[in-house]
Amino acid sequence: MIPFHKPYITIDEITEVLDSLKSGWITMGPKTIEFESKFREYLDAKNAVSMNSCTACLHLALNAIGLKESDEVIVPTVTFTATAEVVNYFKARPVLVDVEADTCNIDISLIESKITEKTKAIMPVHFAGQLCDMDEICDIARKYNLMVIEDAAHSMPATYKDRKVGTIGDISCFSFHATKSLTTGEGGMATTENDEWADNMRVSRLHGMSKDAWKRYTGDGSWYYEVESAGYKYNMTDIQAAMGLAQLRKIDWMWQKRKEIADCYTGAFSSRDDIAVPRVKVDRVSGWHLYVVTLNLDALSIGRNQFIEELKKRGVMTSVHFIPLHKHPYYMTAFNYDHRDFPAADSIYERVISLPIYPGMSNEDVGHVICAFDDALQKFRI
Ligand SMILES: Cc1ncc(COP(=O)(O)O)c(C=O)c1O
Repeated sequence: MIPFHKPYITIDEITEVLDSLKSGWITMGPKTIEFESKFREYLDAKNAVSMNSCTACLHLALNAIGLKESDEVIVPTVTFTATAEVVNYFKARPVLVDVEADTCNIDISLIESKITEKTKAIMPVHFAGQLCDMDEICDIARKYNLMVIEDAAHSMPATYKDRKVGTIGDISCFSFHATKSLTTGEGGMATTENDEWADNMRVSRLHGMSKDAWKRYTGDGSWYYEVESAGYKYNMTDIQAAMGLAQLRKIDWMWQKRKEIADCYTGAFSSRDDIAVPRVKVDRVSGWHLYVVTLNLDALSIGRNQFIEELKKRGVMTSVHFIPLHKHPYYMTAFNYDHRDFPAADSIYERVISLPIYPGMSNEDVGHVICAFDDALQKFRI
């Protein structure tokens, strides 16, 4: 059975984590600070603030820009619930927007029609690792005085017009969840060029205590701290950061492996008319967190769900990204979205399948996935 995902953990991560455990410092400490510094250097970003998840980063990013009750935030409907969930924390409204059918990224032609006097921010989600149309999104944001909070959970280490993710919008939020292209088990990082927002997030992630309060058990620190704001318990630990340091050292190599797998899939499937391969726009490099194919259901006698079962019978585990938010019971009842606003998301949702793509896959594994697809497509082709 080829699993859908397997994190790439080697002796490097084990050694770094052991080093943390043996040091006696296992919560936020020197490794967390080093990880932030290395992450910042890698992206050439001014500030990097680590947390215990991307969700926490998205929450504190909205907190830093001053989101308030009844404000509105533009969010694509094709995303994980975390993107809109954090808007709910403020009793603000996530205003869902349809996506482009061929990239699943927010459809920029629809954004302006959703902006009202209450809109405070746009949250582009870089689906599967490919960056959204950031120039156009930032132009719209400037025109209406909105903030751009990027959900960059999928996008390490993607680029857009030769610029690295993490340095384009106002705040970018990365995920280090177990399935992501750089993992710390759970974890996240927010990057921003704005020092004030960075400081706000640094204080908020640790109970609102003055920002060096984590040092209070070291020789450099003091028992004294002040609570500057209500705060949250969102800090990263040194055990997580230890993994992150080891993963960051091989981020380019791990990307190269995923790119090679993506190229194999594209080579195998792009000439077929019963599935479509992902479209990568010419001016950007995808992080290849996911490889999502779209079935041509007119050419097949079975639907997507059954197709997934057929792949499973052939030893291949797959997934679906994402059930659009407007289809979930909570979002349907809480916000009463109009389904007619999301034709692209609705149509894609019925047809997409995410394939295994991770550095630990062997050539045989990739070949196995391709054969399983070929076999199932051939069997169920009309
Ligand atoms: C698009 C997107 N945003 C946010 C998140 C949340 O990330 P985390 O689990 O690190 O909070 C995920 C997680 O899968 C995601 O896919």
